[in-house]
Amino acid sequence: MPTIMVTDRSGDEKAVEVESGITVMEAIRDNGFDELLALCGGCCSCATCHVHVAADWKAKLPEISEDEDDLLESSEHRDEHSRLSCQIEVTDEIDGLKVTIAQED
Ligand code: FES
Repeated sequence: MPTIMVTDRSGDEKAVEVESGITVMEAIRDNGFDELLALCGGCCSCATCHVHVAADWKAKLPEISEDEDDLLESSEHRDEHSRLSCQIEVTDEIDGLKVTIAQED
């Protein structure tokens, strides 16, 4: 099972082991991080699942879609490492992925 390293808004990091096939958003939300609201449930329409991906992981993730890019534009906390966690599927290839939950807009 892949492990994802999640840092919350207070800076605490926790390793979560998750099944492949779910999204990073589900992995975070279902492991006790109530900071990640994920209001739209993963339909790429709310941007409340915003995370910052560690620099060395950025290139290993699937390309950002136009919809995801547009939604992230609405966040004042967007940076070059921003992704919507509901748009990243958990696979063995991303075992060890490090993400930080973005500040709330
Ligand atoms: S959960 Fe709404 S955009 Fe990801």
